[in-house]
Amino acid sequence: MLSSKASSNCHGQDSLYFLGWQVYEKNPFHEVENPTGIIQMGLAENQLSFDLVESWLRKNPDVMGLKNKDGESVFRDLALFQDYHGMPAFKNELVEYMAKIRGNKVKFDPNNLVLAAGATSANETLIFCLADPGDAILLPTPSYAGFDRDLKWRTGVEIVPIHCSSSNGFRISMFALEEAYERAQKLNLKVKGVLITNPSNPLGTTMTKDELQSLITFAIDKDIHLISDEVFSGTVFDSPCFISIMEAAMDSNLKRNTDVLSRIHIVYSLSKDLGLPGFRVGMIYSNNQTVVSAATKMSSFGLVSSQTQYLLSYMLANKKFTSNYMKRNQKRLKKRKEMLVSGLKKSGINCLKSNAGLFCWVDMRHLLCSNTFEAETDLWKKILCEVGLNISPGSSFHCSQPGWFRVCFANMNQSTLQVALRRITNFVERSSFNYQQNMGSLSRKLISNWVRKLSSADREEQER
Ligand SMILES: Cc1ncc(COP(=O)(O)O)c(C=O)c1O
Repeated sequence: MLSSKASSNCHGQDSLYFLGWQVYEKNPFHEVENPTGIIQMGLAENQLSFDLVESWLRKNPDVMGLKNKDGESVFRDLALFQDYHGMPAFKNELVEYMAKIRGNKVKFDPNNLVLAAGATSANETLIFCLADPGDAILLPTPSYAGFDRDLKWRTGVEIVPIHCSSSNGFRISMFALEEAYERAQKLNLKVKGVLITNPSNPLGTTMTKDELQSLITFAIDKDIHLISDEVFSGTVFDSPCFISIMEAAMDSNLKRNTDVLSRIHIVYSLSKDLGLPGFRVGMIYSNNQTVVSAATKMSSFGLVSSQTQYLLSYMLANKKFTSNYMKRNQKRLKKRKEMLVSGLKKSGINCLKSNAGLFCWVDMRHLLCSNTFEAETDLWKKILCEVGLNISPGSSFHCSQPGWFRVCFANMNQSTLQVALRRITNFVERSSFNYQQNMGSLSRKLISNWVRKLSSADREEQER
């Protein structure tokens, strides 16, 4: 009945990441109405600073009412057809906001910006522009669970993982990068680019200037593109500060290579930094005019509504608001992350050291009954169904080592996080109690087997 694309399995919908959401939705936690329900910790949403946005909206009722500065309605202008280039006023504000997040160390030109319905649409559009079906994109793993859908499903492009491991804090090594490139070649895949997320989802870490410059050099050497998904750039709450790929590319040595900027593209959205995933505001930024014009044509499949552009162009134009929002939001994220890290630590669970994002990358390897992905899935099921927490297993981020989980902390209030931490503590205590009991009965069994063996050996000896 359906096309092969529509019925193909590579959407990723069957991954445990999305299954966890489905289970959560059947029994969602509510402090009063369903206190034993499942707590959603698998959703990278930022709900910590809604009050700041809401306060701005209350102070600017005319904008919400679709009126201009003179109090006249702009409804008709906004309701009419808009072209796919987006509103100039909105794009001007967006590039200023992007520069501000990057400490004004880079300047962005609004003419190089293409609007899209979220970073989801921006990533897919960019892949459609850069690669043909059957070409490959190298992607460091663990990687965002939605990338199978966004980069691969409809484009027909192959994802070749760059395997990162806990031995160096999951950082991208040149060895792993070269190894992934060679693996793609052995599979007869033409590599068209590398896609990084910086800050990383699910790691919550940022890349250093050296690491970024090594990647740029790699892209130049192999004559491929470099895409940097920077949707979490405004969530960097601790040092080292955020360094965008554009800033790294400004290095004088790299700039001697004239086409360096034409192979670098940024994907960004307001879903994480401003906590507005429902508004569907995403963008591609590229210095490559061919890419900009192809992406602009394609953007008609995923435009941002003119009403949303209108509202946000006023909000972002208020520099006092954006500065205050960024500062306070980052402070709140840091506090929340520390609460999660210290709560888990009390239960003997460690997190990868992080400085950004809406989640922690949590090491639960010691809670696995064996070093396998089956054991990871068993632990995930237990935590979901018995403990009542929807956290996401590393397998859904294509992590190559079992036992790591992504735990989100910014999509709930503080008291819900405390309930979640209490549940984890009880679970770990119960598990270690059962473990000790099992070990106790196991050692009793071993000793009695041993005694039995010895005595039967004695008997055999005597019988001989
Ligand atoms: C790395 C990354 N890219 C893209 C997206 C999609 O963002 P959007 O809601 O703007 O489509 C996400 C969402 O979690 C993400 O983590």
